[in-house]
Amino acid sequence: MDKSQKTLLSGIQPSGRPHIGNYFGAMKQFVEMQSSHDCYFMIVDYHALNTIQDAKVMRQNILDLAIDYLAIGLDPKKSVIFKQSDVAAHTELAWIFETLTTMPYLSRAHAYKDSEAKNKEISVGVFNYPMLMAADILLYNTDVVPVGADQKQHVEITRDTAEKFNRIYGDIFKLPEAHILANVAVIPGIDGRKMSKSYGNTIPLFSTDEEIEKAVMGIVTDSSGGVPKNVYEIHKLFRSESDLMKLYEEKAGKYKDLKEALIVDVKKFIGPMRDRRDELTKDSDAVLKILRDGGDRARKVADKKMDEVREKVGVKLY
Ligand code: TYM
Repeated sequence: MDKSQKTLLSGIQPSGRPHIGNYFGAMKQFVEMQSSHDCYFMIVDYHALNTIQDAKVMRQNILDLAIDYLAIGLDPKKSVIFKQSDVAAHTELAWIFETLTTMPYLSRAHAYKDSEAKNKEISVGVFNYPMLMAADILLYNTDVVPVGADQKQHVEITRDTAEKFNRIYGDIFKLPEAHILANVAVIPGIDGRKMSKSYGNTIPLFSTDEEIEKAVMGIVTDSSGGVPKNVYEIHKLFRSESDLMKLYEEKAGKYKDLKEALIVDVKKFIGPMRDRRDELTKDSDAVLKILRDGGDRARKVADKKMDEVREKVGVKLY
């Protein structure tokens, strides 16, 4: 690792196929920043246990997400690619943070409030979620966390937690910054709400051509003007706005034509990445080896930090 570079860390839950919201909101930045930062990219499997409680599905999702990471261009020679459960320090540090954090404070987290508003029965894992995420980030002396806007509060909670620990026990945690690009902070789904697996409004990142056609044709349009907003908002991820301006003027009110033009652009973009993914799928042993090696590298860094934490809180006697 290059000491002169800043440290970057981010993660994705292996909770199903990633979509273009994940890609443009976060993953694209992972690829772009991996040459200028010391990077850690995680598969946050312990976070995903809150929603995936089927071992077979979990195993497959983890492998799939590792392949996705490689297919978008993450390079194990440049970056540490690993899964959270391979580094026990994450859950250990989360516990210590939980002893410092109050229930009223965590009750203000959006994810918890959303679940509560839906009258869901909320697991302790969902409630404590931000503590595990704080541990993920703080174990690696992270400077920057590229994420979409929905994770902003989690990074703020991470900073608060680091400050609290530093105040009580002495300065050992660096305060990280969220890296959120304004123009892609919230990618809309095909119904105009935030694109999200849980809303079923996604365009999966590695869609087949048929899936792309179905999703784009399903984009909700209103008949109020010439420019279908939801189509345009997704289209501008794939083509420059100056290009689009011409097209949308020419085809004003012709929603079907505009959707067809979007289909062409999405296919052009996803096709090569999907081919790369198909290649990688043929050698899952190689992918598992990358994950295992990444876990070994991450563990070295995290265990060192965890040892300092144990010393600071007074449980390290030998
Ligand atoms: P997750 O798995 O829900 O999402 C992965 C990343 O995709 C971004 N994202 C979006 N960005 C823009 N528009 C959207 N519609 C959209 N939907 C998703 C998310 O903001 C995220 O960056 N808690 C995290 C995982 C995590 C993590 C971490 C991230 C655990 N530990 C440490 C960073 C650092 C999550 O659930 O992301």
